[in-house]
Amino acid sequence: MKVKGKHYRSVWMKNSSVFLIEQNLLPFDFKIYEAKNYLDTCRAIKTMMVRGSMAIGAAAGFAMAQAFSEVSECDFSQFIEEAKRDIELTRPTAQNLFHAVNYVYAAAKKSKNPRETAKLTAQKFADEDASACRKIGEYGNTLIKDNCNIETHCNAGWLACVDYGSALSPIYVAHQNGKKVFVYVDETRPRNQGAKLTAWELKNEEIPHLILPDNAGAYLMSQGKVDMMIVGADRIAQNGDVANKIGTLEKAVVAKEFGVPFYVTATIPTFDLNCNSGNDIPIEERSEEEVLYQSGRSIKGNLEKILVCSPGSKAINPAFDITPSKYITGFITEKGIIKPDASAIKNLFS
Ligand code: MRU
Repeated sequence: MKVKGKHYRSVWMKNSSVFLIEQNLLPFDFKIYEAKNYLDTCRAIKTMMVRGSMAIGAAAGFAMAQAFSEVSECDFSQFIEEAKRDIELTRPTAQNLFHAVNYVYAAAKKSKNPRETAKLTAQKFADEDASACRKIGEYGNTLIKDNCNIETHCNAGWLACVDYGSALSPIYVAHQNGKKVFVYVDETRPRNQGAKLTAWELKNEEIPHLILPDNAGAYLMSQGKVDMMIVGADRIAQNGDVANKIGTLEKAVVAKEFGVPFYVTATIPTFDLNCNSGNDIPIEERSEEEVLYQSGRSIKGNLEKILVCSPGSKAINPAFDITPSKYITGFITEKGIIKPDASAIKNLFS
């Protein structure tokens, strides 16, 4: 995607550094962060400088490749195993992260030139993610009618992927094809990925949108103002249950009540056949600070972090929830649009 006329991916590797768009600074500042070694990249994933299941998948693959280029001959095995564990401990929910790490690790371990193979495999993973997202855009576009009002939750745009986006990709393709689309952007507390990142992306692409308070979706749907919902996914169990940003479940239940089609976009590495149902998916718990404090630009123009809750009260901060497959209309994948059931999911892997 382009920012001020220049094409960027959300994350990329050059020599032995990983470069990424510093998402915690958006939309107020656009900066590129250079992670010089695999531990830097781990930190960037953990602190959500890079975020979104597919972007952290690509970053994790690159981190694994960095580890292979950092290791010395004498402690090869121990260093690589520790690095793999460090990367896997950064964030627990997105399946793309585990898929990418294992993909790069397995290829490099059986290669005569592990350093080179790790780099090439990590790059291949990132390239495949970008082209899969492009295909999701094309398939998803077929569901979007002219003058469509679409609600989305969190940021499942190109920042959350390597390029193009997952939930936003069909919207970009529809817009490029001349369809009129309007997007309701859930603000997505506590970190405001919708209000900060999705709104920023849509503004750059000149797509009309409004930021929606998180608790306003049901009202809008009850008024017939939402034609469809499209969201991304962090992990999908073999029965079609979906882990995605906290708040997705509420939207899905409400969408079903008001007859609003609810689509989930995902690439194949997001599906985890080792999880029988959503109950098997680990849900990340993040710091209460993210709920108690908000950060943004003050009226004077300074970036500030302020307490927005009653001083002394504690908070709970589950980062994801599980939407049971019965609330989902379909999955939009790079292999087409499928039903949210076990046999359709199994077919994706054949
Ligand atoms: O905590 P985040 O910002 O990494 O969560 C992101 C989401 O929940 C997205 O909806 C999801 O990763 C799908 S986008 C590829």
